[in-house]
Amino acid sequence: MTEAIRVVVTGAAGQIAYSLLYMIARGEVFGKDQPLILHLLDIPPMAGVLEGVVMELADCALPLLQEVIPTTDPKVAFKDVSAAFLVGAMPRKEGMERKDLLSANVKIFKVQGQALNEFAKKDVKVLVVGNPANTNALVCANYAPSIPKENFSAMTRLDQNRATSQIAAKLGVPIAAVSNIIIWGNHSSTQYPDAGQGKVFINDVWKSVTEVLNDTSFLQGPFIDIVQKRGAAVIASRKMSSAMSAAKSACDHMHDWWNGTAPGKFVSMGVFSDGSYGTPKDVVFSFPVEIKNKQWKIVQGLTIDGFSKSKLDITGNELREERDEALSVLESN
Ligand SMILES: NC(=O)c1ccc[n+]([C@@H]2O[C@H](COP(=O)([O-])OP(=O)(O)OC[C@H]3O[C@@H](n4cnc5c(N)ncnc54)[C@H](O)[C@@H]3O)[C@@H](O)[C@H]2O)c1
Repeated sequence: MTEAIRVVVTGAAGQIAYSLLYMIARGEVFGKDQPLILHLLDIPPMAGVLEGVVMELADCALPLLQEVIPTTDPKVAFKDVSAAFLVGAMPRKEGMERKDLLSANVKIFKVQGQALNEFAKKDVKVLVVGNPANTNALVCANYAPSIPKENFSAMTRLDQNRATSQIAAKLGVPIAAVSNIIIWGNHSSTQYPDAGQGKVFINDVWKSVTEVLNDTSFLQGPFIDIVQKRGAAVIASRKMSSAMSAAKSACDHMHDWWNGTAPGKFVSMGVFSDGSYGTPKDVVFSFPVEIKNKQWKIVQGLTIDGFSKSKLDITGNELREERDEALSVLESN
């Protein structure tokens, strides 16, 4: 039998983890033949809730799940893990300034970066979901110098899934008939959802979304707005933030990183920027990537028109500002 891999989920007593743990333990990320040992990390006040999650995982009677290790100690949580879903973060409280939120999270991700550096496998794949996800991933990587920077990523797959779903609905085609919709930049309201490289499968051929749709005002207006504000719309309706869809997207992200992307297909991931497409270097920026042998590569050579360039600049500037604020918090600690 294949040897089990260790996978950590932080924020394991929270609402995203409640859906995510089940999906991982069913084999939807690492495969139906890959046994797992799940490490569940949360903070001490949540230890009781964590016990309930452990009971439920046991009661699911999942054949791939060899062991579940609940803990409030990062040293235990990150020991020998091959994959890390960093979901736990400090939520924004009423009246909290952006800087205070960033400051609280920078500290969490510093500690977790240090623990990954010391205890995780050196080829661990790290997906940061907790917000501000891009800058948290940057901080985490900076404190884990023994792990390659390429192994750290931030989640924009939920935004990609939302955007793909909007395009499929607009075209009246099944979701599987739409591909290569891109999210550029930050997982925030400055993100740029871009259907310009999108493909749609109609009458047995892949065609350009922009040509088939022929509606630039929609693609440059309501489409971007809907995707940027979708999280707020879910909160307004559900009175809680997106959890099921966030969990599914975290699975999609890690699944594709682990297993690769099909030829010609690309997906969006927040990764270390090398300055491609005129973006700032050394921020975690969401790009279209292709993945082979567990290594992502930024898709090159796409045409960026003036409209797209201005959108990339806005979100790139925000990421630069976040990075500088995070660094100033770290220096003053
Ligand atoms: N990137 C994305 O697309 C995306 C989408 C949705 C949500 N999010 C973010 O994901 C995060 C989690 O969302 P949720 O709905 O599950 O929130 P939640 O409040 O239900 O759960 C968060 C959990 O994290 C725990 N936690 C806090 N600090 C921790 C630490 N230092 N170590 C371990 N655990 C810690 C909390 O105790 C809590 O159990 C939030 O930051 C949210 O903004 C990101």
